[in-house]
Amino acid sequence: MYNFEYKNPVKIIFGKNTISNVVKEIPKGSKILMTFGGGSIKQNGVYEQVKNALKDFGIIEFGGIEANPHYETCMKAVDLIKKEKIDFLLSVGGGSVLDATKFIAAAVCFEGGDPWNICAKQAVVKDALPLGAILTLPATGSEMNGNSVITKAETQEKTPFSTPKVMPQFSILDPEVVYSLPDKQIANGVVDAFIHVLEQYLTFDVNSPIQDRFAESILSTLIEEGPKVLANKKDYEAAANFMWSATVALNGIIAVGVPQDWATHTIGHDLTALHGIDHARTLAIVLPGIMHVKRDNKKDKLLQYGKRIWGITAGTDNEKIDAAISKTILFFESVGIQTTFPAYGLTTETIDKIVSRFKKRFYKIGEKADIGAEQIREILENRL
Ligand code: NZQ
Ligand code: ZN
Repeated sequence: MYNFEYKNPVKIIFGKNTISNVVKEIPKGSKILMTFGGGSIKQNGVYEQVKNALKDFGIIEFGGIEANPHYETCMKAVDLIKKEKIDFLLSVGGGSVLDATKFIAAAVCFEGGDPWNICAKQAVVKDALPLGAILTLPATGSEMNGNSVITKAETQEKTPFSTPKVMPQFSILDPEVVYSLPDKQIANGVVDAFIHVLEQYLTFDVNSPIQDRFAESILSTLIEEGPKVLANKKDYEAAANFMWSATVALNGIIAVGVPQDWATHTIGHDLTALHGIDHARTLAIVLPGIMHVKRDNKKDKLLQYGKRIWGITAGTDNEKIDAAISKTILFFESVGIQTTFPAYGLTTETIDKIVSRFKKRFYKIGEKADIGAEQIREILENRL
């Protein structure tokens, strides 16, 4: 196992009827900017619960944050914050609203020129406004990490940044928010969380049995609980287990002391940027290609994954790996997520565009930093 440091200061408030606890978490006298998306919180009662709980606070609302949030939208909030002298940000929504809120929190305090540099140049974030989250969609893990992914609409670039400065002060996770989610978003959440685990697990062995078994427990829980939530959204226990799985999948705990991949995400972001495909769906397209093309790098872990998660023990190593890839694809399809280029109307034209983008980036990706533009072509051609 590698050396590591781990600190996660996010206070999690988890369970039924916990949204009203927000009043105890925001410093008295704060002037709050409440951020939200396209209106789901007004239909499922979350907006009302938050407003009732915070009736004694000054609140300015900033709605309309789109899925795969835009830098351009975030900058409108930055102007509003400066004008209204806001000192606390409250994100009420899914990963997109929260990621936007993180970017806004950093951009308000940024002194290094255009805040887009936080993403484009990975400029250091020295300070950020404090923020809290009421999560309405289990998927990204954004509620317990310092990551954010922002899209510049003007140039169709989707780029992440990461800093502990934007970790939420608190995140409220009431599994009842799942009741109003469309099936499509539940499936996205299950698959996104599943692939977050694989990005941190399906690499190479460094003798880390605790991280491995913790990762495997999250994978198995998602395989068991995801279909239960899809069958009955009001199954509170299943919703709770799904929600907690998504949080621990990306709160850093399974990443300590182990190599990480993230190639699936890096390529997936370009598919969203170019075609607007939901984040989780881009991952479901790319991952089987990575498992196939990087089967030598990942051999031991692919065999372990196949055996422990899917019970695959028969055949040669290559046959076992093929079976593990097939099982993974079948799982994604069973929750309603397609995994091939044609299923999304994509052709080789998209592969050419993505490969040419990577050629200009001059870095390689994957846990061994050995995946360059031409291997990305091979990975995507596997999905045609
Ligand atoms: O906008 P509203 O009206 O709220 O509707 C949203 C949106 O249309 C809806 N929704 C959310 N909660 C709901 C609900 N509808 C009914 N009932 C509820 N309770 O769901 C739609 C999708 O929401 P979004 O926030 O976009 O989904 P998700 O949470 O999957 O976030 C995706 C974004 O997170 C980024 C992705 O790249 C993408 O931009 N990621 C962030 C990560 C992080 N910060 O660590 C890691 C991930 O890998 C990911 O990259
Ligand atoms: Zn993801």
